[in-house]
Amino acid sequence: METRLLPASTRDDRESISAAVDLLREGEVVALPTETVYGLAADATNPAAVAKIFAAKERPSFNPLIVHLPQPEALYAVATLPHASEQLTLRLIHSFWPGPLTLILPALETTAPAVRAGQPTLAVRISAHPVFSAVCMQLDRPLAAPSANRFGKISPTRAEHVLSELGGRIPLILDSGATYHGLESTIIRVKDNEIEVLRPGPVTIETLNAFAPTRLAVAGPSRPDQPAPIAPGQLPTHYAPTTSLQLVDPLPDAPTDALSSGILLWNRSDWSPVVLEKFGHVVELSPRLDPSEAARVLYTKLREMDQVGLKRIFVQRLPAVGIGKAIMDRLEKASGPRL
Ligand code: TXA
Ligand code: MG
Repeated sequence: METRLLPASTRDDRESISAAVDLLREGEVVALPTETVYGLAADATNPAAVAKIFAAKERPSFNPLIVHLPQPEALYAVATLPHASEQLTLRLIHSFWPGPLTLILPALETTAPAVRAGQPTLAVRISAHPVFSAVCMQLDRPLAAPSANRFGKISPTRAEHVLSELGGRIPLILDSGATYHGLESTIIRVKDNEIEVLRPGPVTIETLNAFAPTRLAVAGPSRPDQPAPIAPGQLPTHYAPTTSLQLVDPLPDAPTDALSSGILLWNRSDWSPVVLEKFGHVVELSPRLDPSEAARVLYTKLREMDQVGLKRIFVQRLPAVGIGKAIMDRLEKASGPRL
C-alpha cells in the first residue's frame, strides 16, 4: 500500500482534512497529529476499521484504545460518569477538554468491542489539535486513536516518525510538523472523589491535586486476576528505542564503553567536562533547562540517537516534578528489558 503524506496545520487545510475524513468514512485508518503525539485513527464504532489499527501497529488485542470525541456532548453516546464522582469528573472535563487528559470511564457498548479489549471501561479524551479536531468534527463520530507507532516503540512526534514506523501499512498521514507536548496524554481514573493517575503526562499531578487528592497508580507486571493491563505501565517495556538505554545520575568516571555510547543530558553543568568528552555522542535535552521543551524533544532525540549505531544510550535522570514526572516515567519504561 502506498502511504500518502499531506500537509495540514490548521482547520483551513480543507483538502487534506477532507481526504482524511473520506478514508475514515470508508473504514480506513489515517495517522493524524494531536497536541501530544501522532495518533493512528479509525472510526471507533466500526469493528473492521478498528481491527486495522491493531494490525498496522502489531498491537496485542488485550491492550485497549483511547477514544477521541468530536465535542463533549458526544461523551454520553460512548460512556457514563463514574457513580458518586460525577461532579468531580465534570469539573475535570470542563477544565481540561479539549486537551491532553484521558479519563477512564464506565463504558457503554456502542464502540467496537476491540476498542475496549474486554474492559468494562473506556478511555476517552478530546484532542485540542485543530487538524484532529476538524477531522473528528467533520466525521462526527468517535475516533479510536492510539499513538501511531509499532507496538512497544517510541510514540511519533513528527509525521516522518509515523512514516518510518507505519509507511506501506496505512493510506494517509496528515503532516502538521512537530507536536506541541511531545508526550502522550495524562490518563486518570476518578474513584470516590479521588484521582488515580495511570499514566503521568502533560496535565501534571500537581495540577490535578488542586481538584482532588491525586496519586500515581503503582505500575507493575499484570496480576493473574487482571488479565488485561489496567495501565500502560504494566507491560515490562514500552516507549523503547532499539538501543539499550540506561538512566544515570552524573557519573564521576566515564564507563569503559563511553566512546561507542551516547549520553542524553538534562543539565550539562552537573557533569565534569573530562567525563563528558569521553563519550562518542553527547546530546542535550534542553540547554535552557526547560522541562516542557525537554518533553517536546525527548522522543525525537531518542529516535536520532537510536539511529547512529550506538552501543548504549545513557540518559541523565531529571527532577520528577511537573512534566518531569511524565518524562521519567517514559524513560524508566524505555530502560526496561527489550521485548
Ligand atoms: O496522547 C495520547 O493519549 C495519544 C494520542 C494519540 O491521543 N494516544 C495514546 O494512545 O497514547 P495509546 O494507545 O498509545 O495509549 C493509551 C493507553 C494504552 O496503553 C492502554 O493501556 C490505556 O491507554 N488504556 C486504554 N483504555 C484503557 C482502559 N479502559 N483502562 C485502562 N487503560 C486503558
Ligand atoms: Mg502508545
